[in-house]
Amino acid sequence: MSELLVFRAPRIEAEIRVPGDKSMSHRAVLLSAISNGTCVIHGFLPSEDCQCTVNAMRAFGIAIDQPAETTLVIHGQRGNFQPPNQTIDCGNSGTLMRLLSGLAATQPFETKLSGDASLSSRPMRRIIEPLTQMGASIQATEPKGTAPLVIRGGHLRPIRYELPVASAQIKSAILFASLKAPGKTVVVEPLATRDHTERMMSYFLVRSQREKVPQGFAISLYGDQVPESRDFTVPGDISSAAFWLVAAAAQEDSNLLVRDIGLNQTRTGILSVLLRMGARVREVIEDCDQVEPRGEVQIQGGRLRGTIIEGAEVPNVIDEIPILAVAGALAQGKTVIRDAKELRVKETDRLAAIAANLTAMGVEVVELDDGLEIYGGAPLLGARLKSYGDHRIAMAFAIAGMFADNETVIEDADCIATSYPGFDEQLEKFLAPDENPPTPVINPAEALEKN
Ligand code: S3P
Repeated sequence: MSELLVFRAPRIEAEIRVPGDKSMSHRAVLLSAISNGTCVIHGFLPSEDCQCTVNAMRAFGIAIDQPAETTLVIHGQRGNFQPPNQTIDCGNSGTLMRLLSGLAATQPFETKLSGDASLSSRPMRRIIEPLTQMGASIQATEPKGTAPLVIRGGHLRPIRYELPVASAQIKSAILFASLKAPGKTVVVEPLATRDHTERMMSYFLVRSQREKVPQGFAISLYGDQVPESRDFTVPGDISSAAFWLVAAAAQEDSNLLVRDIGLNQTRTGILSVLLRMGARVREVIEDCDQVEPRGEVQIQGGRLRGTIIEGAEVPNVIDEIPILAVAGALAQGKTVIRDAKELRVKETDRLAAIAANLTAMGVEVVELDDGLEIYGGAPLLGARLKSYGDHRIAMAFAIAGMFADNETVIEDADCIATSYPGFDEQLEKFLAPDENPPTPVINPAEALEKN
């Protein structure tokens, strides 16, 4: 298992791009595969997680060419899959296992889904329950209701389902299944979660509707719709950019421009949090024509102050909490994260992992049942830290290492490849930058106009 060695970094002055968005890459492959023709996907994230999605679709008999690492040509078969002749390996990806369960539920044969040790410990009853109500049969490994899953589907009926937790993965599993359930399916989410599935379905000409209801937001979709084949360009992943955004925000006189990232409002909570903490943030939406807003973010660092992250903001920053906890440790005063119990069932128990690693770096932290209290501002001490096999823990603490006295070693850092191939090369550039980097500037007229 490889280790990542990090030491104190100079201030950041750079323009960067990050690899394609993970959530959109998964969805682009799945929607193309069930569309009525050939789709070309550009900017695909060639990470282990998303490559599992490509392999899964191939196992269902979908022809996919990959002329370049980030380009896929997918030949959609209108949602008619071949029975796979082996168990489909979802690797480390909760998104894949849950969304794929929704698709497998539409097929009149048996599909077996498995995952690595982390994925095999994550809760699956949350998708088994609604998909069973729709008429699929799903067996999990009891008593905990975890993978491997055995799914037999076909002949689905529409349901109205109120999500017990605000989860885009559960919402999306039901929406994918509902495409083959004649009639109106309604999913109610208590808080807004990322809406890539709805946006991409609408780009593929699948009609759905979203409305505010007393319980939250209701998304309605009529079944018997076949997505119209489309080409799609995936923007950079704001959740990957988040690591560098925090590294720049927490360092006085840093100036970072991230080009071509997704700026969907259900994902940009990190920018609001960093603004609140005292960073200077400029966001320019350049393009919305493929339904997903995309553009540039410039961040200038300063002295950060603690903040509170809770309630409706949590689903928006759900994947950024490890790096925001590091920002809290680098800020003056107390940062409180609440209503984030979902972090206990991510790739690892992220609340426990963050608390353990911050403590090892000399930060005072209190682990709450559903969050953390972080007392920031003390110097960080370099340490030997575990990744807990979790890509976002590994990357968040690599950034912490950029601010620490002495060396920091992140153990078992290979997991970073699940979401951010090339993270280590980018880190190297920040640790030992060019002597005279260009000053990154967003065209000010454009920023003023569009902010
Ligand atoms: C994702 C949704 C989130 C997020 C995950 C990706 C998605 O999970 O944490 O990394 O692509 O739908 P939940 O929906 O379970 O919160």
